[in-house]
Amino acid sequence: MKALAPVLLLTAMTVAACQAPAQDDDMYRYKSAAPDGIGKVYMGREIAQVMGHRGWRWLERPERATEERPDLVLAYLDLAPDAVVADIGAGSGYYTFRLNELVPDGTVLAVDIQQEMLDLIDERAAADGVSNVTTVLGTITDPNLPPDSVDAVLMVDAYHEFSHPAEMLAGIKHGLRTGGRIYLLEFRAEDPQVPILALHKMTERQARRELEANGFTWVETFTDLPWQHLLVFEK
Ligand SMILES: C[S@@+](CC[C@H](N)C(=O)[O-])C[C@H]1O[C@@H](n2cnc3c(N)ncnc32)[C@H](O)[C@@H]1O
Repeated sequence: MKALAPVLLLTAMTVAACQAPAQDDDMYRYKSAAPDGIGKVYMGREIAQVMGHRGWRWLERPERATEERPDLVLAYLDLAPDAVVADIGAGSGYYTFRLNELVPDGTVLAVDIQQEMLDLIDERAAADGVSNVTTVLGTITDPNLPPDSVDAVLMVDAYHEFSHPAEMLAGIKHGLRTGGRIYLLEFRAEDPQVPILALHKMTERQARRELEANGFTWVETFTDLPWQHLLVFEK
């Protein structure tokens, strides 16, 4: 079984979140769902199931340090100490509580659609005395960012789960300041050796296709990570 399978625990909330609202238009196509998919297709890619909050311990597993090399990811990010950074699809905060150290005079907005994930982040921030992390409850169509104010958005292993990627990208664009960056980190679908379920990976080509179609300019791709690639886009 591939590594993500045990943690695809769909809560009632996340199942509801995956259902298409009435206003979905012909941007999306529908098919019978793959085992890890929701049967909804965007630009040729079937959207993956949302990882339920009960699997949060998997996100905090120590192996991530070698599988994902978050130290290399953080060293690569170009953030001023007072930057406002949104960690969208923050989960239990694995990256949130690393990002916050890069912006001691700034803020990390930890966005998720599962309140249970945000509760974990709030509890940890309170326990550790972290004051520059703010949780934001998003919706499946809107990350609820303040307009034109975010310097950078980080999305780690999350974008492929967005049930409404085009709407989410419009919301991100609204929140980013001009010149603001998206750092999109996804498992490499080009590499069959990466032991992650198929729909929870993305090719660089597909990621560029989707973000460029939504008005972002690709800047570069960082490829020196064991299992992932980190694509940089600019508003
Ligand atoms: C696989 S987890 C990754 C969590 C975290 N980024 C990490 O690397 O540990 C994906 C997260 O994305 C969240 N998510 C899914 N769709 C979302 C959306 N439209 N807006 C915000 N978060 C979303 C899920 O609730 C889940 O917590």
